[in-house]
Amino acid sequence: MSDFAELNLEGKSYKLPIIVGTEEEKAIDISSLRAETGYVTLDSGYKNTGATTSAITFLDGEKGILSYRGYPIEQLAEKSNFIEVAYLLIYGSLPTADELDQFNNRIKRHTLVNEDMRKILDGFPSAAHPMGILSALVSSLTAFYPESVNPNQTTDEVDRTIVRLLAKLSTIAAWSYRNSVGHPVIYPKNRLDYCSNFLNMMFAFPTEEYQINPVVVDALNKLLILHADHEQNCSTSTVRLVGSANASLYSSVSAGISALWGPLHGGANQAVIEMLEQIKADGGDSKKFIAKAKDKNDPFRLMGFGHRVYKNFDPRAKIIKKTADDVLGALGIKDPILGIAKELEEAALTDQYFIDRKLYPNVDFYSGIIYRAIGIPTNMFTVMFALGRLPGWIAQWKEMREQKEPIGRPRQIYVGATERNYVPINER
Ligand code: CMC
Repeated sequence: MSDFAELNLEGKSYKLPIIVGTEEEKAIDISSLRAETGYVTLDSGYKNTGATTSAITFLDGEKGILSYRGYPIEQLAEKSNFIEVAYLLIYGSLPTADELDQFNNRIKRHTLVNEDMRKILDGFPSAAHPMGILSALVSSLTAFYPESVNPNQTTDEVDRTIVRLLAKLSTIAAWSYRNSVGHPVIYPKNRLDYCSNFLNMMFAFPTEEYQINPVVVDALNKLLILHADHEQNCSTSTVRLVGSANASLYSSVSAGISALWGPLHGGANQAVIEMLEQIKADGGDSKKFIAKAKDKNDPFRLMGFGHRVYKNFDPRAKIIKKTADDVLGALGIKDPILGIAKELEEAALTDQYFIDRKLYPNVDFYSGIIYRAIGIPTNMFTVMFALGRLPGWIAQWKEMREQKEPIGRPRQIYVGATERNYVPINER
């Protein structure tokens, strides 16, 4: 194969370098195109634009492959735990037993948040969406750790910020929930593992020990692992873009949380449950809603279906569907919306509209059903996604910084009015 592509433009020929990734992904490097030709490329929604080279996550949407640092997602979901996967994503290799121990202990030392943050939390109305609280409180960490905004911090200092954020996000997430139900916050218990501690802060009564169910802890580990990274998606690209301006990790991740909140991205897991509830309340006729999703005059979309990059199946959805069956079985829960979800999936997968457009259930189609079974309320689903995605955001921010990437600044094709003279207000 040639190591350049040839572009013929206005009678002249230009050679553009070809870049090949370790999994044989091919790209044409157009970074010199504008300087050489005066042209930019146009790609709304960046559907076909590689914004960076990255060694963190590989996914092949056609074959349904997803791996972190080379390890298949199926193996990590089955054999690993969330903190081990976080280490893998952030530092690039699986930790030894000692390294994992140290990492866990460092995280445990930072789980408390400054008491003044409680005052900020108290200022939110109880009806506030926990995603808004999460984003605001993560951003406010810059006020408690002002040194984190220095773009010239040493590697050790950056690492402390990373560990702090990993440790504190679960406390902030659980507290935002406690605030929304008007319950007193529960402080972290550092003898517990990450997932058990989070569940305890969510559900314990101040005076009673929370009974930790290993089935629930296992399911939570799986869900967080499956959400931990997904290469250059909307929120991750946001984190990298904000970080490319030398903004702090806290500010960059706060922006990522806001991006994730959107119903076309992480907000879809909440939207799926609301949709399934709507179908149930309407009599449970999934065919009617399939017809609505296909009708171009109807804004209704089948939430939890379709994906920008997976065009065959989403490997995460496969694992989650099985986990949903296992968890509901183990907890003895019969949730009627699981039946509706399966019916809907079956009807969509055999419908020509969905087949033609390669629309399959994505990670969010069944995750909400599991969250619901373990007692997590609907408005916390996207917070759970953020908790899972945090190691990915951190790894991507760190990589962007280590690769000394330039500030992100896309171009545009201007299509507005050409130059015209100002008209005084009384003459318009
Ligand atoms: N229901 C009905 N039609 C759909 C759906 C859907 N869920 N998704 C896509 N389509 C149709 C769309 O109308 C279009 O049809 P046509 O070619 O006739 O105009 C075609 O499929 C292609 O869709 P698109 O919107 O151009 O695809 P996209 O890559 O821009 O959007 C998506 C991807 C995920 C935003 C979209 O599939 C969607 O809105 N899905 C529902 C929301 C959802 O579940 N989001 C979670 C994504 S996974 C979690 C994450 O990683 O964030």
